[in-house]
Amino acid sequence: MHLLVTGGAGFIGANFVHQTVREHPDVQVTVLDALTYAGDERSLDPVADRVTFVKGDIADPDVVDRLVGATDLVVHFAAESHNDNSLHDPWPFVRTNVIGTYTLLEAVRRHGVRYHHVSTDEVYGDLELDDPAKFTPDTPYNPSSPYSSTKASSDLLVRAWARSFGVQATISNCSNNYGPYQHVEKFIPRQVTNVIDGVRPKLYGSGQNVRDWIHVEDHNAAVWTILEKGRAGETYLIGADGEKDNRTVVETILELMGQDPDAYDLVSDRPGHDLRYAIDATKLRTELGWVPRYTTFRDGLAATVDWYRAHEAWWRPQKDATEARYAKLGR
Ligand code: NAD
Ligand code: DAU
Repeated sequence: MHLLVTGGAGFIGANFVHQTVREHPDVQVTVLDALTYAGDERSLDPVADRVTFVKGDIADPDVVDRLVGATDLVVHFAAESHNDNSLHDPWPFVRTNVIGTYTLLEAVRRHGVRYHHVSTDEVYGDLELDDPAKFTPDTPYNPSSPYSSTKASSDLLVRAWARSFGVQATISNCSNNYGPYQHVEKFIPRQVTNVIDGVRPKLYGSGQNVRDWIHVEDHNAAVWTILEKGRAGETYLIGADGEKDNRTVVETILELMGQDPDAYDLVSDRPGHDLRYAIDATKLRTELGWVPRYTTFRDGLAATVDWYRAHEAWWRPQKDATEARYAKLGR
């Protein structure tokens, strides 16, 4: 089988390619990635001899048509993924997340190729802290940021292409991922690398916001489960019951790194900051039989801290530019 992975030089896509090469040795993988600031071809070094890498843009119809025409299945990870950046400059988000997805959908429609769309729980908006409800596949869309609204738009395109044109598509909406190869702009790597640099972690607002953490390998195992057993036209929510408030996450990082758990600063809040996400993954668990392997967040976090300690050469080139962007935002 020939698999085209978009965004395979990014955090989740690179981990997906590693897992695919390891666990599905019969699959031939091609990665299409534009290598934006968030993409790093070095993340594919451990599997470079098993993967064909194409530097290109998912919004470029020519390269997309050529690659989709030569594949059996597309797994679409490529996106502009960071909320803070989307508040500063929304256009790349509209271009990549909406027009890029449209370009891929038209190509899979033309060539009759199966398509899996990787999306986010943020399309559902947020929940109150004390709300017993979690997101389900029936929760109405209510995105808050330019990032999440462009992801919501892309999901709706997929639904329409499946219904109107019969495209064989599945969608997954996952909660916050953590693990190796995540860009240092994101919450957990930012704080871990700050502590390595002797800088105090920075919590937005009151720090009470809740995210539903899942290890990236559990997310990608769920994507493979959907590829193998999912029904075309269906949406599956991926989450591992990992709700934690940001304050607890930072305190745990500090403790794991041998620091005073109170040694962090509160900084100005993200505009429109979603309060809480929480996923009900019953459909994925009961219909497709998926179960997460990383059930103890503290252990997964400790392994992630160790990975950043051991891979400074990977993240160091991005660190100063990332912090310079945050400094301009006062965060
Ligand atoms: P990332 O920012 O780490 O990686 C994105 C990758 O896409 C990069 O390699 C980048 O170079 C590439 N890319 C960007 N624009 C492109 C374009 N126009 N053409 C080709 N390649 C392009 O993102 P991530 O955190 O790995 O997220 C991957 C996907 O998973 C996204 O669709 C995101 O919405 C979704 N998602 C992420 C999370 C999370 O917690 N990170 C959770 C749920 C869903
Ligand atoms: O829920 C899935 C989403 O998770 C994905 O769709 C996004 O691509 C991914 O970036 C992530 O979005 P968040 O906005 O939740 O992730 P981020 O890592 O930016 O922030 C996590 C939480 O930590 C959020 O409440 C904001 C807060 N935060 C973030 C940073 C960078 C801080 O308190 N301090 C920080 O320095």
